[in-house]
Amino acid sequence: MNFIAKCFPSALFAFSLLVTSSTHSATDETIYLSADAMFDSESGKLIDNPALLIKDGLIVEVSSQSALNAPEGATIISLEGKTILPGLIDMHVHLTSMATDHGYKRLRVSHERAAINGVVNAKRTLMAGFTTVRNVGAPSFADVALRDAIAEGDIPGPHMFVSGPPIGITGGHCSDNNLLPSEYNLLGEGVADGPWAARSKVRRNIKYGADLIKTCSTGGVLSKGTKVGAPQYTIEELTAIVEEAHSHGLKVASHAHGTEGIINALKAGVDTIEHASFIDEEGIELAVKQGAYLSMDIYVTEYILGEGEAAGILEESLEKERMTGQTQRDNFKKAVDAGAKIILGTDAGVYPHGDNAKQLSRMVRFGMPSNEVLRAATSVAAQALGQSGNVGVIASDASADIIAVDGNPLEDIDLLETPSFVMKAGLVYKN
Ligand code: ARG
Repeated sequence: MNFIAKCFPSALFAFSLLVTSSTHSATDETIYLSADAMFDSESGKLIDNPALLIKDGLIVEVSSQSALNAPEGATIISLEGKTILPGLIDMHVHLTSMATDHGYKRLRVSHERAAINGVVNAKRTLMAGFTTVRNVGAPSFADVALRDAIAEGDIPGPHMFVSGPPIGITGGHCSDNNLLPSEYNLLGEGVADGPWAARSKVRRNIKYGADLIKTCSTGGVLSKGTKVGAPQYTIEELTAIVEEAHSHGLKVASHAHGTEGIINALKAGVDTIEHASFIDEEGIELAVKQGAYLSMDIYVTEYILGEGEAAGILEESLEKERMTGQTQRDNFKKAVDAGAKIILGTDAGVYPHGDNAKQLSRMVRFGMPSNEVLRAATSVAAQALGQSGNVGVIASDASADIIAVDGNPLEDIDLLETPSFVMKAGLVYKN
């Protein structure tokens, strides 16, 4: 392992993202790709008649059809009638989870089975137009193995940024075995109480390959016996987690529904708040001031309340969802209006992978302009990952992650649910 890799494992990953791109695309092939329009994820505007050159898995030139001709011998991909966009980024997924296994049904899923779920779901996610995901919580290090198998070209899937086991308090939302009675005496893998114990878990996750740290600063909807409104971890513990992660160059995502736990996490300096359901004015102001990103999963409530019971979700969780979903949608609008940085995070895995894009139309319906929604799912998400310029943008030097839809996505956001073209790192997966 080289010096950079030792000091900055996540920097290594950013680097290997680009290197593996080139390893797994047709080596000396140049692709000339044209379309009717292109969504520019920086300006949020559509540009007519774009033409691009792609080589070694990277975009090497972005121009217009009138200014750029296909070089001799180039492979031509002509997407007539279509709008191209950067491949989408979902900042909150659990690829190792199946939407059909909730509550006690989940106890039959071994870590090995979860890893195999990940193989299936990675492909579904990619085919749905999501070329990058942030996986925020997996059993053991199944997500690390999945990320590496994809990056090495063994299986199809999106670029993955992974957390390993989430870090949380005893009996908290980030502990995965609250369903078991005490005689099993089993602690979740990421359970740690106290600042030093929590730091130690951060170090362990980094040691085994995490790109980011996931923690929980409140209870959750789907965890047995936790309260969405109750804070988990003290500011002291959260600060220790953030300091430790940041000192290694990793970002921190905190699951937080309740008002107080959101503020605690922000005061501790986390980078993204997951769910943010009961965020109040103070929380929104703090997020804006600190430049923290909000990942508000405002579609999943429909699945939980519709199919959740059949999938095994406990009645106590359904009741918590009934108390949470609408408030989260109302607060989403408040956060948008206050200018908070919003990223697309869906919690796919709680609902079926591949349906990630269903949240886009809800984000429009609940108060965000469609071009901003598309930025939340591309360039703004890339910023939150620390990957600006590498993913989430159609620009030279970015990974050639490109999707296309049949029409104008700014007028009809639902088009994103059925992309007709998917390219990742210069390889075409769907056309
Ligand atoms: N994983 C989350 C939890 O258990 C899901 C929350 C879903 N509900 C919502 N309204 N976003 O807390």
